[in-house]
Amino acid sequence: MKIDYRETTNDLLKRIDIHSQYGSKNIDQWMLDIVQIKPGMNILDVGCGAGKQCFSYHNFLNGNASITGGDVNAELLEKAKSENTRLQTSIKFIDLDFNQPFPLEDNEFDFASCCFAIYYAEDIPFTIREMHRVLKPGGRLFTSGPMPENKRVFYDIITKATGKVIPPMPGSSRYSSQILAALRNTFSSVAVEIFENPLVFETSEPFLAYTRASLSEDRKLWGSFFTTHDDFEKIMDAIAKVADKRLEQDGKLIMTKVVGGFIATK
Ligand SMILES: C[S@@+](CC[C@H](N)C(=O)[O-])C[C@H]1O[C@@H](n2cnc3c(N)ncnc32)[C@H](O)[C@@H]1O
Repeated sequence: MKIDYRETTNDLLKRIDIHSQYGSKNIDQWMLDIVQIKPGMNILDVGCGAGKQCFSYHNFLNGNASITGGDVNAELLEKAKSENTRLQTSIKFIDLDFNQPFPLEDNEFDFASCCFAIYYAEDIPFTIREMHRVLKPGGRLFTSGPMPENKRVFYDIITKATGKVIPPMPGSSRYSSQILAALRNTFSSVAVEIFENPLVFETSEPFLAYTRASLSEDRKLWGSFFTTHDDFEKIMDAIAKVADKRLEQDGKLIMTKVVGGFIATK
């Protein structure tokens, strides 16, 4: 069936925007505090999307680093490249499919990151070995992803609205188990840090915008919930009713993002 309401790029950027508007904690700052990147480093960001982490590293190091971002999504890479031109930064953005051998040399990078992306890999140990391969000895990899307790309110409201069981999410169902285990198998040490960011919604509108941007981007996962655009809108109506009821009862909706940061050393 043809899916003609796909908006992946906008969906990702919408969710990033809602995190920063309604959350009180800054995930980029949390990450910079724990990864401790230094001027002069050679840095790789895998699954860089529109370049969020690459630009954050660039700003933090005042441009004094060699930064490469790689992604498989041409539309997001295009956004990253035009921002690179607009800001006159010299970040390299490359086509990189993390299910294939990376087009990069062994022992090239001091630091690599893979934020909210590793759990989309088809063969997680393979992708982790590739990230390990391109790091210098002693180099570090940072990954981030949702922990099992992430966004409980979001899933509760969807369950209540639809009466259906939430399908296993590739992130929260695998990140702290399979991905952490693969990192421990490949790297010499792995440290775990937790970031919690409560998003506080006083009206249902931003919560619904977030829900829309999550369900429609990951629609393959939600195949048992909807297939057509009409089904999708019906589900969104049911979710809106439950969210409004919760807001009436509690005054606000608090959806806490719970993210694990794994720092692995080669
Ligand atoms: C949720 S986004 C995160 C993007 C970015 N790191 C950020 O934090 O804004 C997930 C990213 O993984 C990328 N991705 C998915 N499959 C990929 C693959 N096979 N190879 C490289 N990147 C992939 C997507 O294109 C998308 O940019």
